[in-house]
Amino acid sequence: MKLQSLLLISLASVAVAAPSWWEQWTIKKHESVIVADDDMRLVQVAENEAPFYTSEKERMEMLRSNIHYMDITDNTDLGTYRAKSLGKKPLPSAAVHQNKVARYVDQLSTANMEVALTEFTKFHTRYYKSETGHQSAQWLYKQISDLIEETDAESDVSIRKFEHDNWKQFSIIARFEGKNESLTNEPVIVGAHQDSVNMWLPQLRSPGADDDGSGTVTILEVFRALVNTGFRPHRPVEFHWYSAEEAGLLGSQAVAKSYEKKGVDVIAMIQNDMTGYVGTKFAESYGIVVDYVDEDLTELVRVYAREYGDIPVRETKCGYACSDHASWAKAGYRSAFAIEGDFSDSSPYIHTANDDVSHISFDHMKQFAKLALGFAVELGYYKGDK
Ligand code: BES
Ligand code: ZN
Repeated sequence: MKLQSLLLISLASVAVAAPSWWEQWTIKKHESVIVADDDMRLVQVAENEAPFYTSEKERMEMLRSNIHYMDITDNTDLGTYRAKSLGKKPLPSAAVHQNKVARYVDQLSTANMEVALTEFTKFHTRYYKSETGHQSAQWLYKQISDLIEETDAESDVSIRKFEHDNWKQFSIIARFEGKNESLTNEPVIVGAHQDSVNMWLPQLRSPGADDDGSGTVTILEVFRALVNTGFRPHRPVEFHWYSAEEAGLLGSQAVAKSYEKKGVDVIAMIQNDMTGYVGTKFAESYGIVVDYVDEDLTELVRVYAREYGDIPVRETKCGYACSDHASWAKAGYRSAFAIEGDFSDSSPYIHTANDDVSHISFDHMKQFAKLALGFAVELGYYKGDK
């Protein structure tokens, strides 16, 4: 299908919030000047459709029209390094570490999350190519390293920057080593994306409180609880904060490709993208995404949600290339995706200047922190056949 007709179809079916007068004014003033039109990139919008080239203007148009795309320009080889014969590792079928998880859950604090998210949303934008997007990555890096330095509990934990070739906002990887050496190459990954975007123009204010400040801070709080309580799993447990998700999953594709190339055997990955908004159509619930995810892992996530959360699960769909779990799936690993509720009941403010903390429920975020904790602890202690 041609991009033009795709845009028409989705424009007709998706109601997009209108820009404020201030945004309209800025768009008029700057559109032709600031959005470079010569940055042609190869994108894919569906699994079985040929990729095509787009200008930056067209990609912004796709963002406004809710067409999810993967920018594969630099990663056409993602998914080609891992031998298909490696297959996927068997997973546990039930939750068995309730006592361990409970110790960490007691550490989770909504007050902490509120402080962190308030600070994180003060950056003008976390757009991956912007100066403030680089500063926000440095801020986040410091929060995580301070947590590691301040604790006297005994975890073997480290942090590193994953630098990207063509932009300054790095991705961040924090890792708890596992006790069992035979499992060193089979980490569990808990992820979120740190960048934000204003769909009217990247230069505009974009607090990205829900998308995805909420997921970023949710997993930061889980990380804090684990570091402070001396988490020492059997296999490595990693926390990832990806750069440039909003530009077509650029950061996570680069990270997933590097793991694939190194022959890392990731056992499971869960993405936390939008965990802070409670919708108005349905009762508060976990949205568990069932399309473009690993079915068995998703079933297990449902088990953990029932075991460790206090709200019901709703199955929902998010479409092709909806968030960073898709990069891990493409690399041949199991991945799952939890969102704030039914897709149709998710925050109407995302990708605008109105995606701020006033629309966030920290209790709702805590539910996702409990789920991510259950995931990290249960799978971190899972020995498989070793
Ligand atoms: N957080 C969104 C995806 C999302 C939207 C999840 C609504 C749950 C509910 C994500 O950051 C996003 O905006 N993705 C882009 C696609 C991206 C690959 C360009 C999108 O939805 O258009
Ligand atoms: Zn997002």
